Order: sequence, then C-alpha cells, then structure tokens
Amino acid sequence: MIIAANLKTNLTRKATHKYMQELDSCVQKSSQEVIVFPAISSLDAYKTDITVGAQNAYPVEKGAFTGEIGLEHLTEFGIKTILIGHSERRHILGESQEFIAEKFHYFKEQGFRIIYCVGEPLAVRESSKEEMLAYLYQQYEGIDTQYENLIIAYEPVWAIGTGKIPTLEDIADIHSELKKKSSAPLLYGGSVKVNNVKDILQVENVDGVLVGSAALYADHFCSMIQAAE
Ligand code: G3P
Repeated sequence: MIIAANLKTNLTRKATHKYMQELDSCVQKSSQEVIVFPAISSLDAYKTDITVGAQNAYPVEKGAFTGEIGLEHLTEFGIKTILIGHSERRHILGESQEFIAEKFHYFKEQGFRIIYCVGEPLAVRESSKEEMLAYLYQQYEGIDTQYENLIIAYEPVWAIGTGKIPTLEDIADIHSELKKKSSAPLLYGGSVKVNNVKDILQVENVDGVLVGSAALYADHFCSMIQAAE
C-alpha cells in the first residue's frame, strides 16, 4: 500500500523535522510505502525510509517566475516525486487543465514520480453518475495515463477536510471506473482518519491513501500506516 501525507501549508520547517524524526521509527517497522509532501520550506526533511515529495513546482528549471520553485530547487534536495492536479491548486490557485498537463509532461520528461489528483465538487457529485464520470475524465485530458511512474489519487473535493466520505461502495464503484482510464496505482483521499483508514484500504482497487489533516500529527499518521499492515 502507498500511504501518503499532504501537509499542505501546515507545519513549519522545525515542526516538520521533528515530525519526520518521529515518523521515521514507525516507517522503519512498516512494509508500507510512505510518502510525505511537506511545505516548500521543509523539502530538506529527508529520511531514508520516507519519500519526500513536492506539493508543487513550476514546469521550468529556473527563471523569472516570482513565488515559484523549479526543477533546480527540487534537484538540490533530491526530490523526485511531485503532486500535480490537487483540487486546491485547481480551485484556489486557478490552475487550468492545460497548465496541469504541461506540468505533468515536464516532470514526466524529468522522470519524476507523479501523484496526480482528480476529484469532483459537490454539485457534480449530486448530478448523474455519467456527468460525474465525464467531469473526472476531463481531468485526465493531456495526461499520459500509461506513464510507468504515475500514481493517481481520487479526492472528491467535498470530502476534503470536511469529515464526510463517500460510502465504501461508492469508493469501490468510482475506483473501478477510474481504473478503466489508467491501471496506475489509485489512492483515495478526503477525510481519511485513523478510524476509517483500515476499511478504506480494504476496498477493491484502493491501492493506498492520501491523507491531509489527520496526518498532521506523527503518531496519528503512524497509526494509519500500522492500520495498513
Ligand atoms: O491531499 C490530501 C487532502 O486533500 C485530503 O485532506 O484533510 O480531507 O485528509 P483531508
């Protein structure tokens, strides 16, 4: 299983280093693959058994892109894993599918492992299944679904940080539809907690989880990693 934590804009560098230290002993005892996406200031929080990934980067080596970081910055820290297409970047930062696809191809060319996020907002969820799938499939446009270093994360937008999750049957149903688009490992994300992670991980076609708020404490995240054993 792939157990990933997206720390978003939480935990300072000092706090992240402490977090990684605490997590390290847990991960050493685990057979799961653990990935942590810390804030940009903590990309040096390296631990042997934990993959550190970037939450974002601009698809360029370096240059005049105020406020962004590029390939050169990731390479300095040995980062070879990146999150692309997260709903917060789509909806809050206004990233278009076209730009997301550009990022995808840039980092694919660099051989990065890409965790690529798709997910529908509530209004789409409440429409028909056909409309919902059409919305999700549109988020695959311009993406190489056969890329061997690809992981997909299905994160319903309405489930992120809300404590609401789809039923296990719904997760199974949507994951089986998404597997038709790409056979890449498929994670579920959105209000994954210590008390529901085991059930979610047992759903067919769930190859792991991408956790936000419940992963902010190393002991909680460790319990989730242990639940996957
Ligand atoms: O990328 C993971 C994230 O969007 C899920 O957040 O807080 O619902 O676990 P959360």
